[in-house]
Amino acid sequence: MSLVCLTDFQAYAREHLSKSTRDFIEGGADDSVTRDDNTAAFKRIRLRPRYLRDVSEVDTRTTIQGEEISAPIGIAPTGFHCLVWPDGEMSTARAAQAAGICYITSTLASCSLEDIVTAAPEGLRWFQLYVHPDRQLNKQLIHRVESLGFKALVITLDTPVCGNRRYDIQNQLRRNLTLKDLQSPKKGNSLPYFQMASISTSLCWKDLSWFQSITRLPIILKGILTREDAELAVKHNVQGIIVSNHGGRQLDEVLASIDALTEVVAAVKGKIEVYLDGGVRTGNDVLKALALGAKCVFLGRPILWGLACKGEHGVKEVLNILTNEFRTSMALTGCRSVAEINRHLIQFSRL
Ligand SMILES: Cc1cc2nc3c(=O)[nH]c(=O)nc-3n(C[C@H](O)[C@H](O)[C@H](O)COP(=O)(O)O)c2cc1C
Repeated sequence: MSLVCLTDFQAYAREHLSKSTRDFIEGGADDSVTRDDNTAAFKRIRLRPRYLRDVSEVDTRTTIQGEEISAPIGIAPTGFHCLVWPDGEMSTARAAQAAGICYITSTLASCSLEDIVTAAPEGLRWFQLYVHPDRQLNKQLIHRVESLGFKALVITLDTPVCGNRRYDIQNQLRRNLTLKDLQSPKKGNSLPYFQMASISTSLCWKDLSWFQSITRLPIILKGILTREDAELAVKHNVQGIIVSNHGGRQLDEVLASIDALTEVVAAVKGKIEVYLDGGVRTGNDVLKALALGAKCVFLGRPILWGLACKGEHGVKEVLNILTNEFRTSMALTGCRSVAEINRHLIQFSRL
């Protein structure tokens, strides 16, 4: 059976992965209310198409942080790709490079950062940081990603403690996962194993200036859901925000990402770029997020479904399918370029 949409990949991955890996990918926190609402909320939004606008050529290209990408679709950071495909993040990186989009590599990557870069040297990559309690470890890691050519530092905010992921607890998954990739290749074991528990619980807004003092990379904050935090992000001179609830894996019963987007976009007043992840599964979802002010969307689980199905080729197919769907959505709403996607495409009365 051919796989023609992202949920086909989900069904295939569900059938073929072990129970504990499937649960690790699919699981939300607590009752998974937010995980499910992330997708459902997109479906509550209706579109207002415009016709007779010559859509014989539709251009999906855009930029993020000044870098051109082939479509406003990227790969959100997810850990442990080797759980679903033997060469894990190396395959993901190759597929992202071939597609001409941005791959946010996770702190919890299961391949070394050097191997990921070697696999796809021309790809656009950002690095996602789970802030470690030991500042020196953060500093070493940030300098390492800088020298490897990563183009931005994405700091995840919504994980001061790990959410209640019941399946992972039942499957005792965390006990078995360690991060050999965060050992320094030059210094052997000089970086200790970075356990999932090794995430700072004391990170504060005032700490951002320290990160800004040690790197020239643009800093993007991942996990903002409120106007208050969006305003603080602007005040602290970061370069971007990812509206995200961690795919519903952290605090359950928060707003769906697409429902939080409007207030965040209004709060930043165009001063910095706003991105979104969570529940993006179709070209219409991408269009809706852009119409509500996102510059780009990122995919979490769908990339792992593609990887689980066919490795690099599966991820390429997922990205191709979504880009083609997005192009169709643009044509059917009368948008010839990403710049033409705006709020008038959204039926607000149905929100
Ligand atoms: C299996 C899995 C692992 C994840 N690992 C990370 C991670 O290492 N760092 C991070 O910031 N977010 C992580 N996330 C959250 C994603 O970056 C993203 O916010 C979320 O998956 C988007 O929702 P979606 O899966 O509905 O596309 C993970 C999500 C999943 C499903």
